[in-house]
Amino acid sequence: MQEDVNLQWCVAARPQGNVRPDDFKLRTAPLPLPGDGEFLLRTLYLGVRPVMRMYMQGLPAAGERPLDVGDVIHGRGVAQVVASNHPQYAPGDVVQGQIGWQTWKKSSGTAAERFIKMPATGTPFIYGAGATGMNGFSAYCGLLECGKPKPGETVVVSAAAGGVGSTVVQIAHILGCRVIGIAGGSDKCALVRSLGAEACIDYKNEPIAERFAELCPDGIDVYFDNVGGETLAAVLENLARDSRIVLCGSISEYMRKEPFGLTNYTRLRSVNASMNGFFVYNFADRFEQAGRQLAEWINSGKLKPVQSVVEGFEHMPKALAALYDGSNVGVQICRVRGEPEECKPVPPDIQSA
Ligand SMILES: NC(=O)c1ccc[n+]([C@@H]2O[C@H](COP(=O)([O-])OP(=O)(O)OC[C@H]3O[C@@H](n4cnc5c(N)ncnc54)[C@H](OP(=O)(O)O)[C@@H]3O)[C@@H](O)[C@H]2O)c1
Repeated sequence: MQEDVNLQWCVAARPQGNVRPDDFKLRTAPLPLPGDGEFLLRTLYLGVRPVMRMYMQGLPAAGERPLDVGDVIHGRGVAQVVASNHPQYAPGDVVQGQIGWQTWKKSSGTAAERFIKMPATGTPFIYGAGATGMNGFSAYCGLLECGKPKPGETVVVSAAAGGVGSTVVQIAHILGCRVIGIAGGSDKCALVRSLGAEACIDYKNEPIAERFAELCPDGIDVYFDNVGGETLAAVLENLARDSRIVLCGSISEYMRKEPFGLTNYTRLRSVNASMNGFFVYNFADRFEQAGRQLAEWINSGKLKPVQSVVEGFEHMPKALAALYDGSNVGVQICRVRGEPEECKPVPPDIQSA
């Protein structure tokens, strides 16, 4: 990768269906140099998330500004400070936050970028783009704060082999719940069982409603929803009394032209259930504690970060497409440069900037 320029992936066209190569344009911009009150970041890892297709469509999503054609695509990741004229950031600091699909970023550390310094927890920094970053925080805070699982309860998780889902499966298992996953294909289902799920429904090859009847005869206590659509509708027919549905995402609906139009939501009333949507940043005051707990579980071997790592910034477009065709397993991450010690030396003109 060329180090003396800033490589940026921009929106070339609004995606129709899944993203295609023509929807992206790779631009080469001059290397940004930090001015007063600014610092320079070099990108180590970028997380790849379903919401990025919404950004490309020009929709306001996840609190980010709607993008025009030609704009650099929004994206969170992990980066290292390499030069700084900012009192709170020093060369060597590693942060996670809004970097964008680019290999360098000049920043003044605005609130909108939501940079968080990454503490030394003994876990590799790559996890900051996944299991100890917003993906892990979505799983941890969404499950605990909205799902409120109790030991022995039946927790169902969709997209259970994905980034958020594979972490929810493991946390629910650690907490002593009985976990049922839902994923596409026998390999993904085998992985989900290996993470602690008692069973995993292959929604591409098995009838979900019949499988729920077999696996959850007393109903579902907590449903962690990553997909919405028909799966959510089937869960609503199989709820236990006082159950909780956690609306994390609805990827099966993101590419539909018309809304799915859930019709059986009144099932909530008959079993005194609740359905609670959340945005991960609602729980910003829990991130530090969540990060510590997740790192502790990882370091003790209780939680296994499941990751699909795409090697090289040039592959960002295909990494995003994989989320919609289901070819990713675990959290989708692009290794732009890797861990700080794997990076090339910083050019001297940057060090003195
Ligand atoms: N609320 C929040 O703050 C928040 C934060 C982060 C993420 N999210 C949401 O959480 C969900 C998971 O995100 P992630 O980043 O971890 O992605 P992910 O689950 O790693 O990747 C997407 C997975 O979704 C499944 N999928 C794709 N199309 C589908 C369809 N039509 N029907 C059913 N499943 C489909 C695929 O798995 P299969 O092969 O199993 O189909 C794919 O691997 C997304 O909906 C995302 O938008 C919300």
